[in-house]
Amino acid sequence: MKILVTGGAGYIGSHTCVELVQAGHDIVVVDNFVNSSMEAIRRVRKLCGTEFPFEEIDLTDGPATDRLLEKYPVDVVMHFAGLKAVGESVQIPIEYYRNNLGSTLSLLSAMKKHGVKNFVFSSSATVYGADAPVPYKEDSPVSRITSSPYGNTKLMIEYILKDTVRAVPGFNAALLRYFNPVGAHESGEIGEDPSGIPNNLMPYIAKVAVGKLDKIHIFGNDYDTPDGTCLRDYIHVVDLAKGHVAALKKLEENCGVFVCNLGTGKATSVLEMVKAFSAACGKDLPYDFAPRREGDLPETWADPTYARETLGWTAEKGIKEMCEDVWRWQSRNPNGYRD
Ligand code: NAD
Ligand code: WQD
Repeated sequence: MKILVTGGAGYIGSHTCVELVQAGHDIVVVDNFVNSSMEAIRRVRKLCGTEFPFEEIDLTDGPATDRLLEKYPVDVVMHFAGLKAVGESVQIPIEYYRNNLGSTLSLLSAMKKHGVKNFVFSSSATVYGADAPVPYKEDSPVSRITSSPYGNTKLMIEYILKDTVRAVPGFNAALLRYFNPVGAHESGEIGEDPSGIPNNLMPYIAKVAVGKLDKIHIFGNDYDTPDGTCLRDYIHVVDLAKGHVAALKKLEENCGVFVCNLGTGKATSVLEMVKAFSAACGKDLPYDFAPRREGDLPETWADPTYARETLGWTAEKGIKEMCEDVWRWQSRNPNGYRD
């Protein structure tokens, strides 16, 4: 299939480009580098062994997005582009709504004009209600409103896509709800490259391991969990990328709306993750216990049954591989793509 990958220079998009090309698809990639760089594209091209087309475009620019789909007649849009920092979204909600909703609406308008009818969306487990029991299933209740503007953009875009499927004959939308993506490509060539001090656990641990930060702060050790720290469903980014390739099958079946968790079904505590990374990098990483972080849920993980049954897809890589791959990426690229 011919696939437009938006946000393809970013963390998940770049890994998905590699898996798409390896599965025999043709890709066109777009990004505005608000949270990435051209170096990621160069490395993805190297890994893929092909000079796929790349366009630097801000997808909130409607006419530019229209010209993009005019130039490249694609079968599918895979929409990774978006702003994703939960805390930042509380500080600058307007920018988050403008960017995440605006880019999606530009794409949908251009798709309507050019007759493109398949959309894959990077949604998030954050759309599930705080009261939903774990493990989260696709028919678990979603929040009426999530705990952040970022999460609300995911929820709103899910509704926009459901309405589009209802209104446009033949339109299909795969809403893929990611759990906690971590890891890096096994080559060590591409990986997560956050700017500034990371907000998320895995990149923070990696920066401590490489000596860029002093110590890991574990937010809360008094939760009602086996070791008192929060439980999450960490999924290797390459498994996640393969889940996108698998989801294309559903679009070919004319699925209408397809909602699917992409998680492993396994819960790992913060402390377990710190220990696994220490083993991967061969040194005991320093940590302390800090107060709970506002808004954190004690435990979230996926029920992956539906993905297995409908896509024939299951995550294969465990925590050890996730940590080893991040360490390879981080130790070879201590300054990320800026090296
Ligand atoms: P990322 O920031 O690494 O990648 C997003 C890419 O989109 C970046 O390269 C950025 O430059 C680009 N971009 C942003 N706005 C754009 C615009 N207006 N026009 C063109 N390009 C634009 O993030 P990621 O971790 O790869 O996440 C990809 C998607 O998955 C996002 O939509 C994110 O919300 C979603 N998601 C991520 C996680 C996670 O933990 N990483 C979890 C659930 C969902
Ligand atoms: C994991 C655990 C922290 C940093 C976020 C978004 C979610 C989704 C994935 C996009 C928690 C603890 C963290 C640190 C710590 N993204 N932690 N010290 O919050 O589960 O999910 O990313 O859709 O929407 O909210 O991920 O990596 O930030 O935290 O102790 O320095 O690690 O308290 O228990 P989270 P995370």
